[in-house]
Amino acid sequence: LPSLVFVRNFASNVIQNITVVGGGLMGSGIAQVAAQAGNSVTLVDVNDDLLKKTSQRIETSIQRVAKKVYKEKPEDGEKFITESLKKITYSTDIPASVTKADLVVEAIVEKMDIKHKLFSSIDKVAPEHTIFASNTSSLSITEIASVTNRKDRFGGLHFFNPVPVMKLLEVIRTNETSDETYQKMMAWGKAIGKVTITCKDTPGFVVNRLLVPILLEAIRMYERGDASARDIDIALKLGAGHPMGPLELADYVGLDTNKNIVDGWHAKFPDNPLFNPIDSLNKLVAEGKLGVKTGEGFYKYEKK
Ligand code: 3HC
Repeated sequence: LPSLVFVRNFASNVIQNITVVGGGLMGSGIAQVAAQAGNSVTLVDVNDDLLKKTSQRIETSIQRVAKKVYKEKPEDGEKFITESLKKITYSTDIPASVTKADLVVEAIVEKMDIKHKLFSSIDKVAPEHTIFASNTSSLSITEIASVTNRKDRFGGLHFFNPVPVMKLLEVIRTNETSDETYQKMMAWGKAIGKVTITCKDTPGFVVNRLLVPILLEAIRMYERGDASARDIDIALKLGAGHPMGPLELADYVGLDTNKNIVDGWHAKFPDNPLFNPIDSLNKLVAEGKLGVKTGEGFYKYEKK
């Protein structure tokens, strides 16, 4: 009997079924790493066309991972790809997708009202034990969780782009996140192969609070004409050992994402000049030049 009890407790403590809401760059990466680690994953988005793009992105990325990990054993790589892809189910039915979830990770647009709508609707249909998490870059987890009746089972799981490559996962606990939820999120992060760090629910958490100001200052430097985009990027790569220069990275992350972050912070901290709006960034976003994903940002890219 004691061993049975142990098994039951153990099983209820392990996150196995996950639902990722949002099939963009981050959502597809999160679904991919979870599937690679053997989780059953449901990836939900609003329409089939989007999901088709998402599944293609995951396939391309998983092939890159397999090529690297199974360099010497291509047959094992093929098996890894097939097994991992089999773990992902695609759906456009959000309520139905959470009914078996141990964990829901939200990676949708950075708009508080849209996140509130999502979480209040799934709160009603998800099982009691389900943990909700947001991958938000800059919004408050406490505020996102406020519309649910599971504030103790709510936290932040913040990934980095490209998710299959970047090793870090920031685990955010609010004042209301329970110890059990926090421990489960940490254990899940490790189980999917990430290095976890913990941060309070503060704007930008650790990485974005330090990294985004560098990107913003680089954009201002470029706007003032102090140096060319190329030279600013070369400078931080060769002078500070960054893998990408700040303007290159801004394009890579998406200029819309950068704008969302700075706008959100400016609204919250209007007296901090670091977060003031930047004309050239706003102009590029207004023109639909969002970086790599649209073929142009600070640089031009071949359209994929
Ligand atoms: N999927 C799978 N594998 C990928 C991949 C993807 N999407 N992108 C790159 N890779 C793999 C490649 O296959 C390659 O593998 P190899 O070592 O076997 O050749 C390896 O990663 C390196 O890629 P590349 O050779 O194409 O290029 P780089 O060496 O320049 O590395 C990079 C690319 C990993 C993106 C590197 O430039 C880098 O680390 N850049 C900084 C990224 C960063 O700072 N991200 C955080 C942004 S902030 C954020 O995301 C938070 C959000 O809230 C805004």
